[in-house]
Amino acid sequence: MDKFIVEGGRTLRGTVRAKGSKNAALPMMAASILLDPGDRLVLRGVPQLSDIKTMSLLLGKLGVRADRAGETVTLRAVDDSEVEAPYEIVRQMRASICVLGPLVGRRRAARVSQPGGCVIGVRPVDLHTRGIAQLGAAISQEHGYIVAQARRLVGRTVYLGGAFGSTVTGTENVLMAAVLAQGTSLIECAACEPEVQAVAELLNAMGARIQGIGSPRLIVHGVRRLHGADVEVIPDRIEAGTFMAAAAVTGGDVRIDHSRPDHMVAVVEHFRSAGVHVETGDDWIRVMSNGLFKPVDVATLPYPGFPTDMQAQFMALMTLGEGITVITEKIYPDRFMHVAELGRMGARIRKEGSCAIIEGVKSLHGAEVMASDLRASASLVVAALAADGVSEVHRVYHLDRGYDHLERRLNALGARVQRVEEKKGALVREAV
Ligand code: EPU
Repeated sequence: MDKFIVEGGRTLRGTVRAKGSKNAALPMMAASILLDPGDRLVLRGVPQLSDIKTMSLLLGKLGVRADRAGETVTLRAVDDSEVEAPYEIVRQMRASICVLGPLVGRRRAARVSQPGGCVIGVRPVDLHTRGIAQLGAAISQEHGYIVAQARRLVGRTVYLGGAFGSTVTGTENVLMAAVLAQGTSLIECAACEPEVQAVAELLNAMGARIQGIGSPRLIVHGVRRLHGADVEVIPDRIEAGTFMAAAAVTGGDVRIDHSRPDHMVAVVEHFRSAGVHVETGDDWIRVMSNGLFKPVDVATLPYPGFPTDMQAQFMALMTLGEGITVITEKIYPDRFMHVAELGRMGARIRKEGSCAIIEGVKSLHGAEVMASDLRASASLVVAALAADGVSEVHRVYHLDRGYDHLERRLNALGARVQRVEEKKGALVREAV
């Protein structure tokens, strides 16, 4: 297990390229299950992440071969008889649930381990199963598995609204089930996140007929079969946002290439409100900061609102705000694992229900902290970059699930981050 040793207080400058989106690439890879054996799907710009490896492994078990050459992943359907997503893979990565829709859609059966809760909350999948059941599948739960069977799927109206808004992977799952259903489906209260749009665009490139992409009402005219496609994964808006936070918190000047400011309007606006100078072009964002931040209240919301996946990183910035900030988490009310760890670095944060009240401090100090989930880890790295002295961020394997060689790319901007093997204390990778 690795840790990061971060020498804080260094100003980040330069240009970094955002990688392809993890949360788009994962369901796009799962869409390969919809192919007939012999067909292939080529995805370009797939980030090198442990979650992507996990999805490749799962697809391998489901008869799809995944081959990577650089950032291009080619998926070939080989055998369409296997329908089980086993516990030992699903427990490693909740996004494994994305195979449920395409399995039912193409193979008319699925046995997918029920994903458990995780540190960011309970995370049920009732909307996924209800949506797929509405298309005609019989769904039951057996010994920790979701078991689905359908002689045929029929286009219907499916409502995907839940207590916390719509569901991103749930919408992707229902879409992937509906594209091969008989007749027309109407998915109401669909999630509108760019990653969902990317999946829908991919499905259309494979021969599906989806209308209303990007809106909360998707109309899916079922087709008999899909074919292969060759597409580019959209840039990762959360990775780009994390670099924005890293640049801002160090009073830096960083340009993020290969990014989509049009997917990041809420994030850019919040940084600007905090007094960070942000310039944008079609596919780049430049952040210039003097290291002083106005407090900006934030409520996380479904897209196009402020993303929950940027809440922790923005909180790291607000720990240095000139006043009080209230951050309200409306998607995952318990997603505050970073609060106590930021406190170890001198941040003043009080948690009340689904809110965190942050009293800005003049400076943070280096400390040993523990990463608990992907975005919490990112926020600790952001805070450590700004802190006086040295921080150790333990358990960065969480970070490796969603950020492709983050330490190298931060170091290229002037940071000093070492990756160290925890057990032996030996330096195994990135030298500074
Ligand atoms: N929800 C339900 N029932 C469901 C599904 C979701 O009540 O059947 C609730 C959830 O508990 C949550 C809300 O609805 O309160 C939204 O959850 P959603 O289903 O949209 O989340 P997800 O699809 O499981 C994806 C991302 C997450 C991201 C969320 C919200 C992927 C692989 N994961 O999860 O990404 O936080 O959408 O935007 O796309 C991350 O990358 O760090 C990450 C956690």
